[in-house]
Amino acid sequence: MLRGKRILLIIGGGIAAYKSLDLIRRLRERGAEVTPVLTRAATEFVTPLSISALAGEKGYTDLFDLTDEAEMGHIQLSRVADLVLVAPATADLMARMAQGLANDLATTLLLATDTPVMIAPSMNVRMWEHPATRRNLSVLRQDGVTVVGPNEGDMACGEYGPGRMAEPLQIVDAAIMALGDTPLAGTRLIVTSGPTHEPIDPVRYIANRSSGAQGTAIAAALLSLGAEVVFVTGPADVAPPQGVELIRVDTAVEMRAAVMAALPADAAVFAAAVADWRVVGASDSKIKKVSGSFPTLEFAENPDILAEVSQLEQGRPGLVIGFAAETDDVIAHATAKRARKGCDWIVANNVSPETGIMGGTENRVTLISAQGAEAWPRMGKDAVARQLAARIADALV
Ligand code: C5P
Repeated sequence: MLRGKRILLIIGGGIAAYKSLDLIRRLRERGAEVTPVLTRAATEFVTPLSISALAGEKGYTDLFDLTDEAEMGHIQLSRVADLVLVAPATADLMARMAQGLANDLATTLLLATDTPVMIAPSMNVRMWEHPATRRNLSVLRQDGVTVVGPNEGDMACGEYGPGRMAEPLQIVDAAIMALGDTPLAGTRLIVTSGPTHEPIDPVRYIANRSSGAQGTAIAAALLSLGAEVVFVTGPADVAPPQGVELIRVDTAVEMRAAVMAALPADAAVFAAAVADWRVVGASDSKIKKVSGSFPTLEFAENPDILAEVSQLEQGRPGLVIGFAAETDDVIAHATAKRARKGCDWIVANNVSPETGIMGGTENRVTLISAQGAEAWPRMGKDAVARQLAARIADALV
């Protein structure tokens, strides 16, 4: 998927440098060629020998290495790449980048390059939150640098918070996006989105607060990676993306029928907030108000589309993804849900009112798979969608 792409990997001097070894493997597995450059501090954490062995290429360390200058000048080194990736990007390296310093090989390459630059910050939570780092980050963003992570979690220094370097696969996903590939060309995916409306009578219905924003963003991100997308949407607030095969439904029963009819597919993403129940014997005519008497509604359980598709014996998509909107104990509930439904991944999020996620523009999700739970940083719903789409591409291709 990264075949033919050359990545100049600049490894900064932080404890997360050990993850660069795995990152190199992951990039190469996907066909990328990796030219590693280590800062002097990085060599305190990982050796140039292990880095070169994994990269299958010399690990560059020194600006004044004349042999290297004879082989390939530093300007040339900075230009041959399709992407310059800085991982880990330490607070110091970010500061030097933001200042435009060129006092070692890494920063000289970063100043001389005309290719896109991406950083994966990694540092102690206080350093990450320090106004100087916030300032440097905003300067780098203005300069066009893209940022992946950092994640929130336990840190090597014993503290907790944002500052952990993004996981290697997250960085790979971000690199795929940055390189603008269409790795999903030739695949067919189903995405469900929005709420469902369960009628009580022709004018009244039961619904929920889902806006359809996250599902719509996912469909758009999958399209941009080249997939054919069947978009099955309930009555959402946001317009469906251009270019999908659009199927509009109202109820859960209609949504199920549309999904079944859209199979087979390579993957299915169930982002819809499907109503759990429908009203039995919804009236064909408007129920009249009768003073002093109240209608009694009887409910039946709706089909669980995610569970049904996950458990198909024949024609199950290779990758089935569900969502879990929880208000407490998010990871435990979502992990249990993954097992109960039989899907491959669960995208879990905390929708407690104080998070502002439901109906908002941002989301903070944890991706639960057979490999465990991966907490992504809080970001726009579009960014969550792009990262998820890249991860889907990575799993399918
Ligand atoms: O069961 P619960 O609603 O908690 O699970 C949420 C996940 O299940 C979402 O991915 C949602 O799209 C899917 N779902 C479904 N059909 C239902 C209920 C939920 O596909 N009837």
